[in-house]
Amino acid sequence: MPQFVDEKLLQCAHDHALEFLRTLPNRHVGARATRDELLKIYRTPLSDSGEDGKRVLDLLASGAERGTVATAGPRFFGFVIGGSLPVAVAADWITSAWDQNAGLFAASPIMSVLEEVASEWLLDLFDLPRTSSVGFVTGGQMANFTGLAAGRDAVLRRAGYNVEEQGLIGAPQVNIVLSAEAHITIYSSLRLLGFGSKKVRLVEADEQGRMRADALRKVLAETQGPTIVCAQAGNVNTGSIDPLREIATITRDRGAWLHVDGAFGLWGRASRDRRTLLDGVELADSWATDAHKWLNVPYDNGIVIVRDSAAHRASMTVSAEYLEQTAGAERDELDWVPEFSRRGRGITVYAALRALGKKGVESLVDDLCARARQMADLLRKDKGVRILNDVVLNQVLVRFGDDDDKTRRVIADAQKEGTCWMAGTTWHRMAAMRISVSNWATSEDDIARSAEAILRAARK
Ligand SMILES: Cc1ncc(COP(=O)(O)O)c(C=O)c1O
Repeated sequence: MPQFVDEKLLQCAHDHALEFLRTLPNRHVGARATRDELLKIYRTPLSDSGEDGKRVLDLLASGAERGTVATAGPRFFGFVIGGSLPVAVAADWITSAWDQNAGLFAASPIMSVLEEVASEWLLDLFDLPRTSSVGFVTGGQMANFTGLAAGRDAVLRRAGYNVEEQGLIGAPQVNIVLSAEAHITIYSSLRLLGFGSKKVRLVEADEQGRMRADALRKVLAETQGPTIVCAQAGNVNTGSIDPLREIATITRDRGAWLHVDGAFGLWGRASRDRRTLLDGVELADSWATDAHKWLNVPYDNGIVIVRDSAAHRASMTVSAEYLEQTAGAERDELDWVPEFSRRGRGITVYAALRALGKKGVESLVDDLCARARQMADLLRKDKGVRILNDVVLNQVLVRFGDDDDKTRRVIADAQKEGTCWMAGTTWHRMAAMRISVSNWATSEDDIARSAEAILRAARK
């Protein structure tokens, strides 16, 4: 019989974790191991009688330095990937030790209450309607899915149709109206919800990637019946934010549902300096955001918020005879998310918010925006560099020598050199380096070192 508390094993995991975190800031940022190299370490026929746990942990750790990407480190600027605040990593260890199934109050009262309180804090921080309902999901993808599922329920119910009972076959047509710059996860959400990606109406975006309100007005004037509009707070390339007040006013006049994908941009609401950019976001019907991005909690952690909690609940809840569901004030998380059994992912959000406080979250937002501006300013000093976007949040788009091949070469060389890591993109048919400053630990010095490394690659 194995020991119930195996201190040696936990100590071993602790040691490996500390070693990983200590070396993270100074290591080669990109991964260096090939698939073959990793298979050599890890592939073996599954043994009959198993192996010693410590040996398994040591083996896992042996591939970490070359096989992981230092996404949690301070000079990783790829995609939009946050790191992990120390308090959030620590709270995540507790989440695993507790191993709560956070689907039902009956299965874990503490998780239910922590998520209830974290929900209240988030509504306060984002200054969204305090009666909205909140769900903790795996990420922006599932937050978008859940917000749109609530929207699908609400607009069809208003048309006298219960989609949860009747399904989509035979339902009134729902118009889906997206910005031409909608994130790809909006499309996958629509697919899961039974709305074909070719059936959507696209609204033109401006040169920064913001939905054009005048174009939305025209599109909505041409549609009738149940309608869902998706806006965006934080374009994945430029960081730009749609004109939300205008969009919300037009959408409301039309009686449509407005969903805002604010995977990282919604956090701008926590900063007094950036609030005006998000003016009117509070008028939407549902919002998606990520805690694993700007709040810097470990993967995976997304948040959905819905104004109409009845529609939110109707689109997610399930029941069965054997479940002990609450009929009282207690919160059953399965009412608000697509998952049934689930990790207690609200713990890390609770811990991060409590440790930071409102001012701490505001500084986190402002600091990363300042670091992004610093990066843009350092790079644009070089005559061959063009910054393609207005740096309003944490995203910077960079082009080298006004040349696609050169830009792609600079990205590849900088990745290989290892001081920092950024990916590429195509913006308005031009190749560009995409820099996303999303890690709590990124210092001015990290930006200076990274800008130097990028410019070195550009001058080669
Ligand atoms: C605007 C936007 N929406 C949605 C997502 C998807 O979020 P996730 O990767 O957490 O599912 C992203 C990811 O970068 C994003 O930038």
